[in-house]
Amino acid sequence: MDKCDNLWIYYITGTGNARLVSQWFAAEASARGIEIKVQRIDRLENISMPAPGSKNLIGFVYPTHGFNAAPIMLKFIASFPRGLGTDVFLMNTRAGMKLSKIFMPGLSGVALMLPAFLLWLKGYKCTGCRPVDMPSNWIPLHPGIKEKVVWSIIEHCEPIVRRFASDVLSGRKIFRGLYSFPLDLLISPIALAYYAGGRFFLSKTFIANDKCNNCGLCIRECPTSSISIVAGRPYWKLSCESCMRCLNHCPVKAIDAAHGMAVLFWVIFSSANAWLLLTIVNKTGIAPDAFWWKAATQVISIAGMVLITAALYRVMHYAMKIKPLRLLVRITSLTSLPFWRRYNYLNKKRNNQTGGQSN
Ligand SMILES: Cc1cc2nc3c(=O)[nH]c(=O)nc-3n(C[C@H](O)[C@H](O)[C@H](O)COP(=O)(O)O)c2cc1C
Repeated sequence: MDKCDNLWIYYITGTGNARLVSQWFAAEASARGIEIKVQRIDRLENISMPAPGSKNLIGFVYPTHGFNAAPIMLKFIASFPRGLGTDVFLMNTRAGMKLSKIFMPGLSGVALMLPAFLLWLKGYKCTGCRPVDMPSNWIPLHPGIKEKVVWSIIEHCEPIVRRFASDVLSGRKIFRGLYSFPLDLLISPIALAYYAGGRFFLSKTFIANDKCNNCGLCIRECPTSSISIVAGRPYWKLSCESCMRCLNHCPVKAIDAAHGMAVLFWVIFSSANAWLLLTIVNKTGIAPDAFWWKAATQVISIAGMVLITAALYRVMHYAMKIKPLRLLVRITSLTSLPFWRRYNYLNKKRNNQTGGQSN
């Protein structure tokens, strides 16, 4: 006996992992004759909501970003209508890797806990949560995984997701996400720091290199509308969530994560921050060991990092009109190295299936 008549899945994806996971889940439900609606929540536009009262099961599927759920999914869940006991399930895709024959898991942090808590506050009943270790798409950190390894990780994940779907649809409660609870709790301060500041710094590390032909694909595809044309070239706004869709899907590899530029920004910000904090202590006589001051320095540092990085990025964007500077930024970007693969196999497959049309 199935738990629901209607299945609603809301997903967000940078590079296709969460979409594939949603499709596997939906296929299991379809085989049981359940009515399904799978929706991508890009830009939080054109999203329909389940009718209250029917026997609904609602799923949220999203990538893990900085040991947390992707910010756009958190925003979506926060604005979701109240639940009156409706069943929900959560799945976060993580950075799966494969070392020799061993499949290595990613780390969830609060990526399941926080959405589950928000949904509980809204009156929903979480009946299942599970991380899925799909191929890592975090290209600024490592070159894209080799295609053969990507498919083997995906083949490994499919039965896991289908089993989870079958269990949840049959009404069993599955909380695989709780296995790593102590470790996830331990790294939750990093999740908080990433959410408050890290993601804004990352959004200011993207640049369009000389291969960019202004085709506009990155602008059209960005799930948070965070890319616009400034001074004739793509410019990443602070709202960018570094989902990696643009960097991985650009057909001419014209988008780089500028490592050299990021280091320069970090050195300038750290020096300015140290000088500012020291000046405040010297001028006001604040005890540098006071607890409240230590807490305040964290807030000042994060705010300073966001503001200074954003300002430097703006200046750099205009300065990169100068060719030698553009070249310098490019050659200090690891992503520009010829062997630095992108993670775009799922996108290519989808485009082949849809004749090049994205959905
Ligand atoms: C900015 C960023 C942060 C990430 N943080 C984590 C993380 O904390 N833990 C993890 O396991 N994977 C992390 N990843 C990897 C992605 O969550 C993983 O590759 C996911 O499967 C991508 O799914 P998608 O293709 O649906 O976007 C991160 C990726 C990016 C781009």
